[in-house]
Amino acid sequence: MAAQVQTAAPVPARTRPQERHDLWWLEPAVIFVVLTLFVVYSFLAGIANANYFSEPYLSPLYSPCIAANCVHPVLPIVGPWWNLSPAILIVAFPIAFRVTCYYYRRSYYRAFFWSPPACAVPDVRGRYAGETRFPFVIQNFHRYFLYLATVILAFLWWDTILAFDFGGRFGIGLGSLIMLANVLLLTGYTLSCHSVRYLFGGYLDSFHGKSLRFRLWSLANRLNARHARWAWASLIVVAFTDLYIRLLAMGVLNDPRWIS
Ligand code: FES
Repeated sequence: MAAQVQTAAPVPARTRPQERHDLWWLEPAVIFVVLTLFVVYSFLAGIANANYFSEPYLSPLYSPCIAANCVHPVLPIVGPWWNLSPAILIVAFPIAFRVTCYYYRRSYYRAFFWSPPACAVPDVRGRYAGETRFPFVIQNFHRYFLYLATVILAFLWWDTILAFDFGGRFGIGLGSLIMLANVLLLTGYTLSCHSVRYLFGGYLDSFHGKSLRFRLWSLANRLNARHARWAWASLIVVAFTDLYIRLLAMGVLNDPRWIS
C-alpha cells in the first residue's frame, strides 16, 4: 500500500516564530523617535503664531505667508477674518507630500504600525489590505501632492533669495546660509521623488529622439538612489531652520553676519 503524504497546514504570518536575533528593532525605534519629535515640534511651532520671522528670515513652516495676519505676508489672499496661525493654511501640503512619500510609507508602516516591523519579522496584523482602502488609498495621490509641494518649494526659494537682502543691500548671515541649505535639501528631496522619475520618462517605451528627457530621467535616477538620505536630511534641517529663526526672533541668539 502506498504511503500517504501529509502536507503541513500553512502557519499564519503573525504566529510564525521570530527568527531574527540581530538588532532589527533598532531602525524602527530610531524612526519612531525622530518622526515623533519632528511631528511634536512642528505642531507646536506651527500653532504658536509667533516668532516665525526675524528680518530677513522667514521660517519655512510659515511659508508662503498667505494670510493678512502674517508678520511678513507674501501673498495675502486670505483676509483679516483669519486670526489663527497662518501656518495652518499651508502646512497640509508639505505634510501630505511627506506622508504619502514611498520612502516614508515604508518607514512609518514599520515604526508605527509594525506592518511589518522589519524584513523577515512577522507582521503584527492578521490581515493585509494593502493601500486599497480608506485612508490608505489616499497614498495613491502622491504625484498630485508632489505638484503642490513644488509650488511651496518655489516660495521657499524666493524666501531664500530674500534672506540675502539686508535692507536693500546684499548680505550674508548665518541665517542666509541655513535657509540656503534648507531649500537645497528640500529641492534634492523633491527631485529625487519616485514620481519625478516617472514624470521624466518612467512611462516611455523608448528614449529614442528624446535626449533631454533621458538626461533629466538619468539625473532623477541618480538623486533617487539617495532618496532616503534626502528625506531625513531635509526633515531635520526644516525643523532646525525654524528653530534658528525662532531663537533669533525671541532674542535668544544673534545672527552672525559676514557681509551686510
Ligand atoms: S517618493 Fe518620496 S517624495 Fe515622492
